Amino acid sequence: MSAKLSVEGVTKRYGALTAVDSIDIEFGTTKKYGLIGPNGAGKTTLFDLISGVQRPNEGEIIYDGTPITNEPPHVITERGLAKTFQEGEVFDDMTVIENLLAVWSGSLHDGLEYGETLLEQFEMLHVRDLPAGDLSGGQTKVIGLIRTLMTQPEFVLLDEVLAGVNPTLQRTILSDLDDMHEDGVTFVMIEHDINAIMEFTDYVFALSDGRLIAEGTPEEVRNDEIVLESYLGESA
Ligand SMILES: Nc1ncnc2c1ncn2[C@@H]1O[C@H](COP(=O)(O)OP(=O)(O)O)[C@@H](O)[C@H]1O
Ligand SMILES: [Mg+2]
Repeated sequence: MSAKLSVEGVTKRYGALTAVDSIDIEFGTTKKYGLIGPNGAGKTTLFDLISGVQRPNEGEIIYDGTPITNEPPHVITERGLAKTFQEGEVFDDMTVIENLLAVWSGSLHDGLEYGETLLEQFEMLHVRDLPAGDLSGGQTKVIGLIRTLMTQPEFVLLDEVLAGVNPTLQRTILSDLDDMHEDGVTFVMIEHDINAIMEFTDYVFALSDGRLIAEGTPEEVRNDEIVLESYLGESA
């Protein structure tokens, strides 16, 4: 069986720094994936490379059997592969629902309906008509996630969507994402909180200094000697 998403020998350099170093990773569709590693390990850069925000210096990225290595972000999103932004990223002077409609490609009626369904699901309906600039940091993160989900993706890269979100809302998010996974959506989660990774994911890749240093079940990776060493000296 071929992988849904393959990262093959991918390297990204910024000047003398190799942010992502010859990474090989394969993602299927039946698991919920985690991507962990200390700050600066290259996690966000890897997501940027997959989603077309950055171009690798070397390697290929293949989605659904087709190379997407040099495709622009909007083409990759149209293919069903979407990414959240680490900072949530919304248009401050637009209302929440306008932010959602801005990324919707169908009719206004359907967009309103779909947006409201997602807002309700993530317990955000009460901020529907607020300017996005008035939201708290945590709320902005959730609206950013919902905005990504408005593209009706089949494969989603989640870059720290739980960070800064209150524990109750974190529970809601994780349970909603679980339901979506049951309905066929694949997730790759970057999260600093190892407990969230342990709880949500089935299979974890660990990066350090741009390299893949371990992979396996969350339990295996958490107890991996090299992973533990790579976190030493980091104050989480
Ligand atoms: N646009 C950029 N220009 C230069 N260096 C960058 C850029 N983006 C990331 N880096 C560097 O690449 C490394 C990996 O960063 P990043 O992928 O953001 O790590 P992580 O998400 O794992 O914390 C870091 O050393 C970071 O400073
Ligand atoms: Mg990051």
